[in-house]
Amino acid sequence: MDPQEKKVALRAITYGLYVMTAADGDAFAGGGVNWLTQVSFEPPLVAAGVKVDSGLDALIEKTGKFAVNVLADDQLDIAKAFFRSTAVEGDRINGHKFERGVATDAPILDEVPYWFECRVTDTVARGDHTVFVAEVVGAGVRDASKVPLNLRTTGMNYGG
Ligand SMILES: Cc1cc2nc3c(=O)[nH]c(=O)nc-3n(C[C@H](O)[C@H](O)[C@H](O)COP(=O)(O)O)c2cc1C
Repeated sequence: MDPQEKKVALRAITYGLYVMTAADGDAFAGGGVNWLTQVSFEPPLVAAGVKVDSGLDALIEKTGKFAVNVLADDQLDIAKAFFRSTAVEGDRINGHKFERGVATDAPILDEVPYWFECRVTDTVARGDHTVFVAEVVGAGVRDASKVPLNLRTTGMNYGG
């Protein structure tokens, strides 16, 4: 396999860009992620790839729960706030207001148009990212007119 072609071909996968969060009491973690997709209708399952050495991975491993905040196409600034380490002050995580999800306790950002909460059913510890397969146990829509953020439009890459 040509490594350059492998990289370019894998980067041709179409992704969104999301803020994934988790919480265990007063401990919080959040990250901007694109390796996320639905993988089953019934039960409703998603799969996500989470960096093995991240705070997010540690909290999801511990609690078995996470939330996915779906950003709108004009909310890249929120994603950028979650490419760095997590800081919570009062009711803000990385500078953005949140409430805790009913099903997971994980931060749901006030500004996002869509969100869902997940309980981990299966964990694949194979590569440098843990693959969490999780059942969607809660969801919310604040503004169905919003177009979700697409990774390609940002000019950034995470893949290859
Ligand atoms: C464009 C982009 C996409 C990313 N996608 C993922 C992803 O799918 N999974 C992941 O674990 N980290 C991803 N990251 C990295 C995380 O955002 C980053 O490592 C994390 O927020 C930092 O948390 P930590 O301090 O706990 O490591 C991505 C980063 C960028 C810039």
